Amino acid sequence: MSETKRLAGEKAIDFVEDGMIVGVGTGSTVAYFIDALADIKHRIKGTVSSSEQSTQRLRALGIEVLELNSAGPLALYVDGADECDPDKRLIKGGGAALTREKIIAESSDRFVCIIDPGKRVDVLGKFPLPVEVIPMARSLVAREILRLTGGQPVWRQDASGKGVVTDNGNAILDVHGLAIRDPLSLESALNQIPGVVTVGLFARRAADVVIVGGEPPQVL
Ligand code: 5RP
Repeated sequence: MSETKRLAGEKAIDFVEDGMIVGVGTGSTVAYFIDALADIKHRIKGTVSSSEQSTQRLRALGIEVLELNSAGPLALYVDGADECDPDKRLIKGGGAALTREKIIAESSDRFVCIIDPGKRVDVLGKFPLPVEVIPMARSLVAREILRLTGGQPVWRQDASGKGVVTDNGNAILDVHGLAIRDPLSLESALNQIPGVVTVGLFARRAADVVIVGGEPPQVL
């Protein structure tokens, strides 16, 4: 339970307009947004969800979840982040949902990012950078990331020591020890490695608006 996350999630409701199909991200901050969205669900046409976790929460609250392919371009996407720099570039993927999150962000006219104040940084990279990879390419991608960046890729495992499997059936490498001074170039370079599905850097498609939870919330 985080008060600042709740304040950020609830403030994002200001960006929802009547009749919209709303893109919905993943995570504990987004959970507060979903709960607030339930109160106005009769005003929207539906949602497009970025994860099985968010889909479950949306459906449990009686909010319709549509396929992105039939929903078409979206007016609004609301999602959290693990880090946010002064240019609204982000690290995302702490919840392993980065691929669908990036697809929906790209499909949306406006990306509203909701964070607590601790997520703001000058330089991205203290939070280990998530990279979703095709399972058979895990070691190859890890070696290439080490060679290209000097960062330390670590295969994400769950509490029982099993490799985390994303909603798309892939693995996650978390890259430690980076100070990302040129996020756009790094995103592009890592995207070139065969076997990389998605890099959790949102620099090419950064957020348009950032809401920082607080009393009152700050809208950047
Ligand atoms: C999931 C994400 C989340 O937005 C990010 O991890 C932030 O989560 P939280 O709101 O729980 O702090 O990118 O893949």
